[in-house]
Amino acid sequence: MAGIVFLRTQKLEEITEFFQKQIDCSNWLSQPDCTILRHGNFLFGFCTRDTVQNDVMLTFFYHSRAEVDRMYKRLQSRAESEPVENEKYGIYQFFARDPENRMLEFQYFDHDLPPFLSSDELLLTRRSIRRFTDQPIPESLLTSVCDLSRFAPTARNSQPYYLKLVKDNDVLKRLAEVRGASSAPIGRAPIAVAIVADPAISKRHIQDGCIAAYHLLLAAWTYGLGTCWIAAMDRDDVKELLGIPKDHYVATVTPLGYPEGDPPAMPERKGLDHYLRE
Ligand SMILES: Cc1cc2nc3c(=O)[nH]c(=O)nc-3n(C[C@H](O)[C@H](O)[C@H](O)COP(=O)(O)O)c2cc1C
Repeated sequence: MAGIVFLRTQKLEEITEFFQKQIDCSNWLSQPDCTILRHGNFLFGFCTRDTVQNDVMLTFFYHSRAEVDRMYKRLQSRAESEPVENEKYGIYQFFARDPENRMLEFQYFDHDLPPFLSSDELLLTRRSIRRFTDQPIPESLLTSVCDLSRFAPTARNSQPYYLKLVKDNDVLKRLAEVRGASSAPIGRAPIAVAIVADPAISKRHIQDGCIAAYHLLLAAWTYGLGTCWIAAMDRDDVKELLGIPKDHYVATVTPLGYPEGDPPAMPERKGLDHYLRE
């Protein structure tokens, strides 16, 4: 389910071009005298009318201060002031005007937020996170993440996987050491999750376990929590530490926590021509 805010305009073409070029909105839907734009999960439309509706404020929010600064640089000539901290709301923000004098707000929330990512943003912005803050993960959030992981596809809907949550500091440290630098991120997180599959339940337990693990990585990101796939954890020492039967398959053990600092830049991806082959 979704919603749209419609606003009256006298310059449909100019105003939609402004939001597309300057604010990176995409054209979601064109109608006879209205255009609906999209900015992440925010849908808003302009319709040609005799009067302009500008007694409104449109707020665009970003994942980091750096992105707000980038928008400020771009819109400096339209900005009302430089970006500042607003302690009352825990935000970093600045204001600007669109070509019909509507107030625009650009901000970063300097605290955790409930889920807001659109599905394409979720897939595009998920990153491997290797450093975490000390902030504990609320039990309810942890339950929500684990609960979402139940909806992964499995061969014949066999659901052969389960999760082992690791909160004990000593166990986290020992897990972090098993593969040196490769597993070190586990030691920097408040929690780790092992995603394990039972071969007695499914012949495809390796695929089922890996897909479920990726589902959990995405579920975590939905709630603003960082993860990192740590490979080659299907080892006897890991199983012994976690009390996992030797014949079960450990798809990965991921650290789980609030990311420290701004999100890392996306490691470069190859173009679509690399992925699409005749
Ligand atoms: C199969 C697999 C194994 C990986 N193993 C490790 C690992 O052992 N340690 C680690 O820090 N990152 C590991 N990663 C994370 C990758 O380095 C990361 O996904 C890649 O650099 C792309 O970055 P992104 O996840 O931020 O898009 C692994 C990822 C995959 C899919």
